[in-house]
Amino acid sequence: MRHLLSMADLDRDDIEQILNLADSFAEVGKRQIPKVPALRGKTIAWLFYEDSTRTRLSFETAAKRLSADTMNFSVGSSSVNKGESLRDTVETIAAMGVDGVVVRHRGAGAPHRIAEWIDASVVNAGDGWHQHPTQSLLDLYTATRHLGSLDGRRIAIVGDIKYSRVARSNAIGFATLGAEVTFVAPQTLLPPSLEGWPVKVTHDLDEVMEDIDICYLLRMQLERQEQAVVPTLREFHEEYGLTTERADRLREESLIMHPGPMNRGVEIAGEVADRPNAVITEQVINGIAVRMAVLYLLLGSGLNLVDNQEAVA
Ligand code: CP
Repeated sequence: MRHLLSMADLDRDDIEQILNLADSFAEVGKRQIPKVPALRGKTIAWLFYEDSTRTRLSFETAAKRLSADTMNFSVGSSSVNKGESLRDTVETIAAMGVDGVVVRHRGAGAPHRIAEWIDASVVNAGDGWHQHPTQSLLDLYTATRHLGSLDGRRIAIVGDIKYSRVARSNAIGFATLGAEVTFVAPQTLLPPSLEGWPVKVTHDLDEVMEDIDICYLLRMQLERQEQAVVPTLREFHEEYGLTTERADRLREESLIMHPGPMNRGVEIAGEVADRPNAVITEQVINGIAVRMAVLYLLLGSGLNLVDNQEAVA
C-alpha cells in the first residue's frame, strides 16, 4: 500500500500491524533521545488547507522522531492566495522532491485526487466530512491498550455524525476490529442514508449508557452546518451531551473518548472531560506513535514489516 486515504483500505491485519508498530514507537518516545534514523533521507510535506492543532503537530513530531526532513507549507502565506489551484500547488511541491504528502482539505476526496497526480505517498489528515484515518487508528490504539481485544465491545459514537469524518472513519475502524458500533444522534445530525454502514442507530443516549464500553463524543461542527440542526446548544447538551449524570451511569472501566477540539458544555460537560476514565489527552499522546507507524510503513518499509526491531533500532 502506497497511500493511507481511508479506513476502508485497511483490513484487520493491516490495522493490527500498525498498532503493534505504534507500540514499538511509543517506547522510542520514552527514550532520553526519542529519535530513530528510520526515515533519514526522506522528505515529507504538510499541506493543511484546514486548521489543525493535534494532527499537524503530532505528524510533525512523528516525522522529526523518525529523522525525516520536512517541507512546511502554510496555505495562508502561499500562492494559493493568488488563486493557484490545488493541482498546480501539489505538483509544484512534488517537483521539489518529496516522498510523502500529508494533506488536510475541506473537500471530501481531495487526498484521493492528489494521489492520482503525484508519485509521492499521500496520507489523508482529514478531508471534509469524509475520512480521518489516522484519528481512527490512534483511537483504536488507545482503546485496545485499555480494553484489550475489541471483539464484541460496544461503542457509542454520539452527536454530530452527519458532518463528522471521525464518525465515518471510526465506524469502519471499530467494526473491522470486531466491535459493535451504535450511532447516537438526532435525525437532523445523521446522514440521509446509512445503508451499508456497519452500525446500529438510536436517538436515545440514555438507552445505551449502562451497556457501552466506550462513549465516543463528537465535536459539534458548527463550521460545516449550513443551517440550524438542533434547537439550541443547551438543549442538545441536555439530550445528547455526556452530562455529569449520564457519565455517572457508565461502568467503571468504560472509556470516555473525544477526538478534540472539545466544546465543553456542548457535547461533553467540562467536569466529565477531566475524569480518570476520560482518555482524551492520551488519545493526543498516542497520535505521535501511531503517526510514526503510518509514516514508517508508507515511506520506509511498505506494509510488509517482519520485525519491528528494524524500525526502532
Ligand atoms: N482531532 C483533530 O483532528 O484535531 P485537530 O483538528 O486539532 O487536528
